[in-house]
Amino acid sequence: MSQYSIAVVVGSLRRDSFNRRLAYALVKLAPPELSFRQVNISDLPPYNQDDEANPSEPVSRLKAEIAASQGLLFFTAEYNRSIPGVLKNAIDHASRPYGRNSWSGKPAGVLGVSPGPISTAVAQQHLRTILAYLDVPTLGQPEAFIQAKEGLFDAAGNIGADSKIFLQGWMDRYVAWVKKHAAGK
Ligand SMILES: Cc1cc2nc3c(=O)[nH]c(=O)nc-3n(C[C@H](O)[C@H](O)[C@H](O)COP(=O)(O)O)c2cc1C
Repeated sequence: MSQYSIAVVVGSLRRDSFNRRLAYALVKLAPPELSFRQVNISDLPPYNQDDEANPSEPVSRLKAEIAASQGLLFFTAEYNRSIPGVLKNAIDHASRPYGRNSWSGKPAGVLGVSPGPISTAVAQQHLRTILAYLDVPTLGQPEAFIQAKEGLFDAAGNIGADSKIFLQGWMDRYVAWVKKHAAGK
């Protein structure tokens, strides 16, 4: 029985996104107390402060889904050594209007996958800076700079054998992080 609903934010719109594949595979390592729902960021308009008083349906939906969650999971691609614009757009939308930041206080995990040798390390640091400002407590360790390479996923789309122990350990720490914050409320 699920007690903790986790909003999953994938910072890539690409059809065959490694980050989305990682999200789908990773959540299978969680216990049944946690349930996961990917929030749709593909239909959000470009953020415009003029629209805050009259938000579009996708913006209201995003804010409601974040507000209803007990935790967040961010999977970010790295674009030009930062987070993709679509992810920043979603973060900006749900952070507003001033005083009604939907992200505030939600315990978060940050991961990312890229074919590059340092993976999404720089993008993740940028993301952590943004989340710190938005009052989002992020799990510090272990960091998850995942390289997209042969064997990361098995034929069924699950986490491959080489990464399973590390990512199971990551998930165990994340579950404890979510529970700790829920208990402190
Ligand atoms: C505009 C653009 C910029 C990119 N910049 C980086 C980068 O700074 N670092 C990196 O490791 N990969 C970079 N890449 C490659 C991405 O890591 C790669 O396309 C990856 O598959 C994107 O994640 P996704 O599979 O979840 O869409 C870039 C790709 C694009 C399209």
